[in-house]
Amino acid sequence: MKALIVYYSRTGTTALLARLISDEVDGDLMEIGDKKNREGLTGVARSIWGAFIERKPKITEIERDISEYDIVFIGTPLWAGNIAGPIRTFIIKYREELGRVAFFNTFGASKSQQIFDNMRELAGKRPEGVLSLRKKEVEGKRGEKAVYDFVEEIKEGLEGFRL
Ligand SMILES: Cc1cc2nc3c(=O)[nH]c(=O)nc-3n(C[C@H](O)[C@H](O)[C@H](O)COP(=O)(O)O)c2cc1C
Repeated sequence: MKALIVYYSRTGTTALLARLISDEVDGDLMEIGDKKNREGLTGVARSIWGAFIERKPKITEIERDISEYDIVFIGTPLWAGNIAGPIRTFIIKYREELGRVAFFNTFGASKSQQIFDNMRELAGKRPEGVLSLRKKEVEGKRGEKAVYDFVEEIKEGLEGFRL
C-alpha cells in the first residue's frame, strides 16, 4: 500500500510529526509551500486573518501524482482554530485525486475537532484516522506512541491492506 504524507509547516512542528508518520508507514513525504511572507508579527497576523476568512493562497508546484497513492495523510498546524491556508488550497485543488485520507494537526493551546470536520468537508471524504498533538507531545516520547497508535488503528480499519 502506497502512502503519501502531505503537510504544511511554518515553524517545523507539523513537519516533525509528518516525519514520524512517514517513518511509521514507510511513506513518501511532501511539503507544501506558499509564496506568502509569514515571517514575524505581520506574517502571523496575515496567517491568522487568512485562516479566519478561509483564504486559499497559491501553493508551490506539486510534482507527484497524488492519485497513485492508496492513502494520503494530510497535516496542518492549527491556525485561528482552522486549517492553514496552503493545506486548504491543497485539499481543494487535489480532492478529486485523493483516495483514502487521514488527517493530522499540531496546535499550541487547545485541541480542535472542528478542524477535522472542516478538512473532511473540503476533501469530501471521511478520514481513516485523525491525530492532533501539541508541540511538546510531538517532540516527546508521547508523540511516538501516539503516532504508533494512530497508524495501527488505520491499519486495523484497512484490513487486507498492508501499510
Ligand atoms: C497564525 C497562527 C495561528 C495559530 N492559531 C492557533 C489556534 O487557534 N489554536 C492553537 O492552539 N494554536 C494556534 N497556533 C499555534 C500553532 O498551531 C502551533 O504552534 C503549531 O504546532 C505550529 O506548527 P508548525 O511549527 O508546523 O508551523 C497558531 C500559530 C500561528 C502561527
